[in-house]
Amino acid sequence: MDPPNLLLLLLLTFASTINAQYFPEPFCGSTNFTADSAYQTTLTNLLSSISTTDSLSLTYGFFNASSTVFGTSQTLYVIGSCRGDLTAKKCRTCLEALASDIRRLCPLQKEAFLYSENCIVRYSDASIFSTVETEPNYIMYNHNAVSVEVTYKLGTQMEGLRGEAAGGGSLRKFATRNVSVGSDMVYAMVQCTPDLTKEQCIDCQEKIVGKMEDCCLEKAGMTALAPSCQFRYENYQFLDPVAEPLLPPPPPPPPPLSLRHHCRHRLQVD
Ligand SMILES: *[C@@H]1O[C@H](CO)[C@@H](O)[C@H](O)[C@H]1NC(C)=O
Ligand SMILES: *[C@@H]1O[C@H](CO)[C@@H](O)[C@H](O)[C@H]1NC(C)=O
Ligand SMILES: *[C@@H]1O[C@H](CO)[C@@H](O)[C@H](O)[C@H]1NC(C)=O
Repeated sequence: MDPPNLLLLLLLTFASTINAQYFPEPFCGSTNFTADSAYQTTLTNLLSSISTTDSLSLTYGFFNASSTVFGTSQTLYVIGSCRGDLTAKKCRTCLEALASDIRRLCPLQKEAFLYSENCIVRYSDASIFSTVETEPNYIMYNHNAVSVEVTYKLGTQMEGLRGEAAGGGSLRKFATRNVSVGSDMVYAMVQCTPDLTKEQCIDCQEKIVGKMEDCCLEKAGMTALAPSCQFRYENYQFLDPVAEPLLPPPPPPPPPLSLRHHCRHRLQVD
């Protein structure tokens, strides 16, 4: 292997080590359930149902399950959400890994959530479907600065991108855009969990953008993560270019009937 390739390999290895980390840390709630209780069994069963859920829902990157805790009036809710460009297969792998880690990192907590670069898993004994949750949120950024021009152009594009993601419908709320500013390219994505309404999605995005304005203007890259929504932009393409198509292709049209009539007619003539 020649030196440039070796360097590339080292860089890639380093990059994947960073990506494999959980950033920035798991959130484990403050109240605990009893070990070996019905609560624990219910939680384990719900999280392991990620492995058996049908691929169709994971095609849209969303997992949603709930169950009452046997012998109690409590209900447990689990949400899993993958970045919109992941295939169903990658989404499942990502959620399974997080579901297993969340049990290890928050062993007795009644609610928790955990992020990786590509997916999030949350659970709670309070209903978490169709509600906007922006706490806790995390902002990460690239320390390199970009010009005011890039920041300005990005700002105007992000607004449109938020509307596009929010309008994505009940299966997936995800939108991406490549923004060119002079010779620079910026790659951006916006996502909300699809259980939110359009208005809730915009509300969630505005809240996390608000947090960013304090710290991170004119940064070359940034990720803002909250339980219900996220956005990210970078000066390199971080999305998977071979994303699964949003909908299966339409079935081929039926063979034209007139052709068959025509053939029969020809046979009779012969
Ligand atoms: C809850 O469980 C965690 C993990 O076992 C433990 O570290 C923590 O002290 C417990 N909290 C309370 C309030 O018992
Ligand atoms: C952005 O550019 C990438 C190539 O780097 C391309 O694969 C992708 O389709 C573009 N996305 C949009 C939304 O134009
Ligand atoms: C999530 O699950 C709940 C309860 O099973 C259901 O009412 C709701 O429609 C689901 N939401 C989505 C977005 O699938």
